[in-house]
Amino acid sequence: MGANVDLSVRIGNGTLANPVGVASGTFGYGGEYEGLVDFSDIGAIYTKAVTLEPRGGNAPPRLVETPSGILNSIGLANVGVEKFISDKLPYLRTLPCAVVVNVAGASEDEYRRVVERLESGCLDSVDTNGSGIFGYEVNVSCPNVHHGGLAFGTDPAQVERLTSSLRELTKRPLIIKLTPNVTDIAVVAKAAEAGGADAVSLINTLVGMVIDVKTRKPVLGAKTGGLSGPAVRPVGVALTCKARRAVSIPIIGMGGISCADDALQYILAGASAVQIGTANFVNPKTAGLVSSGIREYCIGNGISSLKEICGVAVD
Ligand SMILES: Cc1cc2nc3c(=O)[nH]c(=O)nc-3n(C[C@H](O)[C@H](O)[C@H](O)COP(=O)(O)O)c2cc1C
Repeated sequence: MGANVDLSVRIGNGTLANPVGVASGTFGYGGEYEGLVDFSDIGAIYTKAVTLEPRGGNAPPRLVETPSGILNSIGLANVGVEKFISDKLPYLRTLPCAVVVNVAGASEDEYRRVVERLESGCLDSVDTNGSGIFGYEVNVSCPNVHHGGLAFGTDPAQVERLTSSLRELTKRPLIIKLTPNVTDIAVVAKAAEAGGADAVSLINTLVGMVIDVKTRKPVLGAKTGGLSGPAVRPVGVALTCKARRAVSIPIIGMGGISCADDALQYILAGASAVQIGTANFVNPKTAGLVSSGIREYCIGNGISSLKEICGVAVD
């Protein structure tokens, strides 16, 4: 069925055969979904954030449902880079999909040390996938301890500096993941491009709060959290359009995608690839269904390559 539709996406010096990936923090390190999905249906797994040291994350409760979405305050809980390399990467290497490591840090130095460690710790054992790592997605929504806790991603100068600093360390595709919690995402996207990013991905979650009127306190242990799911999709689509007008590097769109039509909105807005996040909690097979739905749309509309419709809704 429709083997002649080209869905491949070029990101820097790498090519994803399938444009539909699973978003960081919603798919663990892959193994959590063993037996529930066919990994060959997924274009790329964007791992849970990897930091230099293990992190326990925020105080519970960490998750609350909202109208058409969820609010989470997981707080980058993760095993740290050493355990990622020893315990998680060997499994990820066996999968038939690309693996993009989502990197987080509290300072430029921490981001650098994570990427350096992954580059040096993985290249020593060569297999058919190289290191088993396709590239890096850099989460710039983290507060910078050296800049009064202001998130890297809210300051274009910091984004450009961090991007060019990481660019020196790797030839692999470098994707900067942008936060929607800014006045003008176009300026930040341009800063990532100027720093040498191969792509930008967007959107991360929107800051939100839910208050329990009985206790008169915020429901989440961390008080605020990040909003995701169908509720945020129109925001993500609009910001994709805005970023498309600002940069010429590929955009990987996400936020509230749960079916092929949702993904196509992002592609028509200018995304070259997409990620499925919160919808994985509803149906772990969503990425495969979205990918085959995109293929069917292309066949039904006489489209031979997804690139033909990328950004056509943006004037
Ligand atoms: C529970 C949860 C954990 C997340 N953890 C991360 C993370 O570690 N790093 C990151 O860059 N984004 C993280 N995200 C953000 C998602 O990758 C994605 O950008 C966001 O949820 C929007 O997509 P969606 O509406 O399809 O979920 C997380 C989201 C959720 C719901």
